[in-house]
Parts: sequence; C-alpha cells; structure tokens
Amino acid sequence: MTWREYHESTKHSVESLRRAAHVLDWANMPDPFRHYEGVPVLDLPADPPIPETPTLEVLHGASGASPAGDGSTFLSQLLFYSAAISAAKRVPSTGDRYALRVNPSSGNLHPTEFHFLTRGVKDWPDGLYHYRPSAHMAEQRAQGGVELRLAGNSAPIVFVLTSIAWREAWKYRDRAYRYCLHDVGHAWQALALAARAIGCDSFAIGHFPDDEVARVCRLHDDEWPMLIVELGGRPIPVREPHVCEPRAGGAVWYGGHANLLSREGIAYPRIDGIHGATKLSDSAFRGISPVEPPPSGSGKIKLPPSTSSGRTFGEVARMRRSALDFLGGVQSISLAQLSAILAVTNRPVCADFGGARFIQLYLYAHRVDGLEIGVYRFWPEPSELEQTRCGDQRVAAAGLSLAQELAGNACVAFSMIGDIERAVRAHGDRGYRYVHFEAGAIGHRLYLAAEALGLGATGIGAFYDEEVHRYLNLAPEQGQVVYHFAIGYPAADPRLEA
Ligand SMILES: Cc1cc2nc3c(=O)[nH]c(=O)nc-3n(C[C@H](O)[C@H](O)[C@H](O)COP(=O)(O)O)c2cc1C
Repeated sequence: MTWREYHESTKHSVESLRRAAHVLDWANMPDPFRHYEGVPVLDLPADPPIPETPTLEVLHGASGASPAGDGSTFLSQLLFYSAAISAAKRVPSTGDRYALRVNPSSGNLHPTEFHFLTRGVKDWPDGLYHYRPSAHMAEQRAQGGVELRLAGNSAPIVFVLTSIAWREAWKYRDRAYRYCLHDVGHAWQALALAARAIGCDSFAIGHFPDDEVARVCRLHDDEWPMLIVELGGRPIPVREPHVCEPRAGGAVWYGGHANLLSREGIAYPRIDGIHGATKLSDSAFRGISPVEPPPSGSGKIKLPPSTSSGRTFGEVARMRRSALDFLGGVQSISLAQLSAILAVTNRPVCADFGGARFIQLYLYAHRVDGLEIGVYRFWPEPSELEQTRCGDQRVAAAGLSLAQELAGNACVAFSMIGDIERAVRAHGDRGYRYVHFEAGAIGHRLYLAAEALGLGATGIGAFYDEEVHRYLNLAPEQGQVVYHFAIGYPAADPRLEA
C-alpha cells in the first residue's frame, strides 16, 4: 500500500457512496474514553487560572503568562484549555447526553489520546502519564525517568499524541485514517496554542521511529504514536536542581490495563496498510530532509489590515464549538474579518516538518462585504486573493461537501489543497501524515479565529475529491483536496448544554 493507493481508494464519489452504504452499529460504538486501569491517578486541580491573553494575539504568536506555582496546577491549566471536556449535548429523542471537548473531532469520536512525560516539574512526580479527560485527571503509568530517545533533550514536559484508528473507522471505515491525521493536527494546535497562551514554547516532532516510541510508552496495541510535542519555557514550574526526585533514575512501571473500547473491533486492512506505509522503522530512521518551497503567486485583491478582538484565549478555547449549520440569509462578514481569519492560517508551525508549507487555501466567498461572490485562491506571502471563478458558489460549495448545506449557508467556505507529492518527495510516504497534520492545524486556528470574532466554524472531512479538483480546475500536480471548512453565523443548536 502506498499513500497514493490509499488516497485514491478512499476518495468519495456519488458512485462510491452508493456502492458502499454503511449502517452504523450503535451497540458496537467504541468508547470515546480510554482508561489505563489499575494505576495511581493524580488529581488536576479544578478551576485552573484562565489564560487572559486575547486569542487573536496568541494566534499571531504572542505569549501569555501562567501564575501556576506548582506542577499540578500548571498541567491542569494546560489540559483544561487544550483537551478537557468543555460542554455536553443531549439527544432530544433519547435524552442521552454526550461530552464535547476543547479539541474538535470528526464525528466527535476522538481518536486522539494525550500521553505525557514529565521531568523536574515542581511538586509533580517525574513519570509517564495518560490524560483522562472524563475526570480531568492524570493516570500515572510510570514513575521516574522514562526517556524517549528522540526527545532526549531537556524539555520538562513531552506529549505523545496517539491515534486509535478503530474509533474513527467504526463510522468512516477506510477513509478514517485521514480523519485521524486531521484530529492529531487539531489536538496538536489545541495543545501548542494553550501552551503559548500560558507563556510556553512548543515544538512538534513528526519524524520518529514509531515502534520505538510505542515500546517506550508501552502503548496498548490499538494506539499508534503520531506526534511528539515538547514543551518548554519559564512558566513551567520546575524543581530547584538540589531538590531530588524520590524515584530518580529508572522508572517504576504501573502500566495499567487499557479498557476495551468495543465488543468487537473490525479490521480495516487499508488503514493498517497506510499506517504501515507511513511508519519509520528504527533502521530507516534518519533526520528529516529539507523540502522544496511551495509555489508562489499573487492576486489582484490586496487584503486590508485585520480586524481585532479582545476575547481571551481562555474564553474562546472553551467556548469553541462546531456549528451544526449556519444562518445563511444576508448577514455578511467584513473583509477585515476575513483578513484576520486568513492571517492566522499562515503563521509558522513549530515542527520538524514545518520548514515548508504544504497546504494552499481556496475560498468560496458567499457573503463577504466588499468581495465579489466567487472562488478565490489565497496567496499568503503578499496576502492577496486571486479570483478564479465568478458567481454564486453556495450550491457548489454545499454540493462538493457531500451536499452538506452548512458549506453553502456559511459566509465563506474553504478547500484545503495539499501538495502531497512535494511532501512525499522530501519525507517519503511519511509526508502523507504531515500534509494532513498541517490541514488539521490550520483548521484549528480557523476555529479559534472564528470564535474570537463572534462567528462559528465547522471542519468538513467529507467531500467529493475529484469533483473538487474539477471545480477548482486543479491540474494533478497542483495537489489533492484534503480538508474543507466553513465559517459564518452559527444556527442555534438545541442539543447544546453548558
Ligand atoms: C477532521 C474533522 C472533520 C469533520 N467533518 C465534519 C463534517 O463533514 N460535517 C460536519 O457537520 N461536521 C464535521 N466535523 C465537526 C465534528 O462533527 C465536531 O468537531 C464534533 O461533533 C465535536 O463537536 P465540537 O467541534 O463542537 O467539539 C469535523 C470535525 C473534524 C475535526
């Protein structure tokens, strides 16, 4: 299985959807919460300090500050604003409630798990932990020094984000691996931006030997390590060098028993195939290669300065929701708002694979003041728009997104075009992951920018791939559509609770 075989075989078309209708087996739905049972569980204090820096400033690279004086408060703050439960929905027909989190997830199935290693953090034992969002607690899987070979520098906190592909495959079958990668991109940015909002730096490592990391972290075999995120910076409360950790040196392992997520796991050989194709083995592992720069260009429409917003990171991160639909009608956004939204997509990503960007944005402008309706290509370097189509795009945008009306009712919808060929030329099939991580990362920034501006947003993983390419007039070498997105005025969602 190569990336191309996987990608081609998981494209949606009217025919592919008709051919393979799928009925969800609700009785076998995977548990969205993983627990490693039988290990010590450490409390993360309730009501950690709120990151007060305005969200748009954080998205533009500004750092906040954390008043947390000890490890547990610091970790609580970090996770409360990146991965915790933040709301609930109630199904009107059954009365069943389900949880929503700070990080979004396709189908709310949450394939991404957050593990973290700590060393030298004040009043917090060194060790390996798994975050338990259902209780906002840390499961201590090992106490003492656990060393990841690649993250062997001095970072006091190192996250390992993993994917449980079965959670997504239960609903999306073979296409699910794409969504797992997007989800990791969202989770990474949720974490990196929360870290920045509390004054920390982060650096993501996508290039690591997979089996080695899984072995060091003793992951259950349904969890695949996808991204390592190192955190550093002064706000992390660290112990004085002379204060010894009681169990310094080798680790004491508690491990824990991973809970069973479903009655029956169903095998998806294509997902195993693409995961295998994008893995790095210990022997093949080398440093990451440089990448050719993306194509450059310009457009006739210069974007005005961005509008500002004072909404704090703490408020926006926890209020962020996916809109079920948008209001449509006549209410528009301003060009300065669109400018603010686009500006956040082009900030550097702090990652070993972040040297050159792989995603190009196309916009379906439905209702933006001062912008003729049509399709535009966004050129980030001069911050200009190039119009590629004229006329009303609402039916097309919805139709291309698998007839989801929200893409037509939004003020603006997006196609993210990934230059997978260029990524793979530099990184081999591993590059397939990086393109999707970047798309998820951009999506997460779009969610937060929209929320900061009082708008709503929704990530859209379902689209007719080849129809999008035809509609946008893309030559094969220009890339593949990897993610859709919509931003506008959200319709009220009666299922949403606090
Ligand atoms: C990668 C990805 C793909 C998604 N695709 C769709 C989609 O095609 N249609 C849709 O209505 N929502 C989509 N969503 C939104 C999710 O359904 C939503 O994130 C989830 O229900 C959790 O709700 P929340 O974002 O409010 O926390 C997607 C989200 C992500 C992260």
